[in-house]
Amino acid sequence: MKHSFFNPILIFLIIQLSSLITTETHPLDSLSPHEITQVQTTISQIYPSPTHILTFHYMGLDDPPKPKTATQNPTRMAYVIARINRTTHEITVDISKHLRSPTILIDKVYKGNGYPTLTNEEQNNANKVAMEYSPFVESMKKRKLKVEEIVCLSFVIGWFGQKQERRIVKVRCYSMEDTINFYMRPIEGVTVTVDLDEMKVVGFIDRVEVPIPKAYGTDYREEKHNGTTDFVHQGFRIIQPNGAGFTIDNDIVRWGKWEFHLSFDARVGLIISTASIEDLENKKRRPILYRGFLSEVFVPYMDATDEWYYRTYFDAGEYGLGQLTVPLQPNIDCPPNAVFIDGYIASQDGKPLKMPKVFCVFERYSGDIMWRHTEASIPNQFITETRREVTLIVRTISTIGNYDYIFDWEFFQSGSIKVKVGLTGILEIRGTKYNHKDQIHEEIYGTLLAPNTVGSFHDHFFTFHLDLDIDGHLNSLMKTFLETRHVTNHNIPRKSYWSVKQETANTECDARIHLGSKPTLEISVVNPNKLTKVGNIKGYRLIPATPISSLLMDDDYPQIRAANTKYSVLVTPYNKSEKWASGLFTDQGSGDDTLATWTLRNRDIKNKDIVLWYTMGLHHVTCQEDFPIMPTISAGFELRPSNFFETNPVLSVKSPKSMT
Ligand SMILES: *[C@@H]1O[C@H](CO)[C@@H](O)[C@H](O)[C@H]1NC(C)=O
Ligand SMILES: *[C@@H]1O[C@H](CO)[C@@H](O)[C@H](O)[C@H]1NC(C)=O
Repeated sequence: MKHSFFNPILIFLIIQLSSLITTETHPLDSLSPHEITQVQTTISQIYPSPTHILTFHYMGLDDPPKPKTATQNPTRMAYVIARINRTTHEITVDISKHLRSPTILIDKVYKGNGYPTLTNEEQNNANKVAMEYSPFVESMKKRKLKVEEIVCLSFVIGWFGQKQERRIVKVRCYSMEDTINFYMRPIEGVTVTVDLDEMKVVGFIDRVEVPIPKAYGTDYREEKHNGTTDFVHQGFRIIQPNGAGFTIDNDIVRWGKWEFHLSFDARVGLIISTASIEDLENKKRRPILYRGFLSEVFVPYMDATDEWYYRTYFDAGEYGLGQLTVPLQPNIDCPPNAVFIDGYIASQDGKPLKMPKVFCVFERYSGDIMWRHTEASIPNQFITETRREVTLIVRTISTIGNYDYIFDWEFFQSGSIKVKVGLTGILEIRGTKYNHKDQIHEEIYGTLLAPNTVGSFHDHFFTFHLDLDIDGHLNSLMKTFLETRHVTNHNIPRKSYWSVKQETANTECDARIHLGSKPTLEISVVNPNKLTKVGNIKGYRLIPATPISSLLMDDDYPQIRAANTKYSVLVTPYNKSEKWASGLFTDQGSGDDTLATWTLRNRDIKNKDIVLWYTMGLHHVTCQEDFPIMPTISAGFELRPSNFFETNPVLSVKSPKSMT
């Protein structure tokens, strides 16, 4: 049969094919909805219901080998953590396009310590089961609380040396009578323990009764606060008359000399990959960051009572920063010139779940100065030259129960990358019988913020996985010590000065660094094989946030699980299995397979493909301004070129086209 050339179906096919061919893909692309469906179908065919109870707890890209090569048929693999009939499975599925159908390559039962990330669905179910439990209903009646005005949350139970036999959460509840801000109204003393696999109550305690703090003044909705201030600002306008200065093609962002790739992961959220900068002189891209993401957030509360001691959260490993990413609101969470990107994860049943507007990308000019100089020393001349600071930001927000984390990755024309974490949202409150500080003669583990209201002391430790590839993947960690030197030449009246001593870390132990105890130490990742024209080693320096480290005792259970938080910096040789600082199975995990234990192997890290793990954090001493909502507090770090360029790249930065 002869086809007419103008067969519309054929033309449709040609257009489809050509769009497939020209579509840019990246080996580190997140799993597409189609790929998620393929993985779900393949695994459910092997473990069909109702004979199997199958739930998906993680599904993501199984990283291709590094350094990857752009082959015709790149292998695409998915890595899955599933619970199948109460056992944990690790499953690898080959979903490469050239295969006729997806193939399971590995399916192994995990028998070690710890459990996978909790799904949102099972937490909701656990809360429901708790609220329907008759002794709980009785307790609420006794307290004269209406069930329809109660909100419950699932709390992971941590690990305190116990044998882990069950996936368990403790459900704790709040009253939202007269306020949407139920976090301010904890129902202390009542805990319902729920087995997540059986989805049934396995424990109940109604131990103490303290007054529920009052609702008055706690609701945060704007309309509840009419008339409390007469200042309304006049508004702002952000216009880019010539459009955005960046492009995004299939998650590859190009802006000025920068190019990087974005992907979204259920566990860690935003991942920046293959960030590189263009070398105009040699017309080549110079790699900087192969992969950067927030690997874990450790949040231990400093309260040693029955209802609180276990609150030692690992937000990524236990709750999933990606699965708790919230949709960004245009013009509010991001400025009007932002572009939004959707993400996909697998839900508990393995099917693709669209997560709208998980990232926004925008250029920022906030009136800041990138560089300036006024020259007043040249006779009869007065020269002022300035470059405005225009940067590119990728933003994402995860809300883990009460806390909202705002994450910004900001790219600078100077070659710097700054990462900023904003902590906001609402405090975790403990109910107390006290109304005034004078009444308190015992440890209350926090600050009395309002009558019956204690803001608990706690920490946040953010551990970033920074797989820097400075001009290639063979890199070293360079320590630069600033040291006081004595002047030995007696003809000079000065007695002292400082200079630097540089040391390369040979093994993982050499790179365990707590910056708080070494304020004059500078840390860089360098490429010892690449020198500038005058002979300096090319590198990027880490400019840290105010260094803090965990104050818990080394042998305290939560600290064993988060042992890396005693250090600001750790370095490991690249290993594709070592991505998540708190280990693969964090829930109830005993810390035996974590970043800190990996580094005990003391592997060589000199002139190797290395990963820099940087931990920054905040000790939160609560104060009254944290009640009933928290002002945003920010912390961040910078990766800054250090002998990476021959001269300052700012020199060639052009002024924006139109600025009025
Ligand atoms: C506050 O103002 C908003 C908008 O004008 C209005 O809808 C709301 O009813 C007001 N609330 C109160 C408590 O007055
Ligand atoms: C890679 O990491 C895994 C998990 O820590 C470990 O079992 C394996 O031995 C590591 N491989 C190398 C070469 O260090």
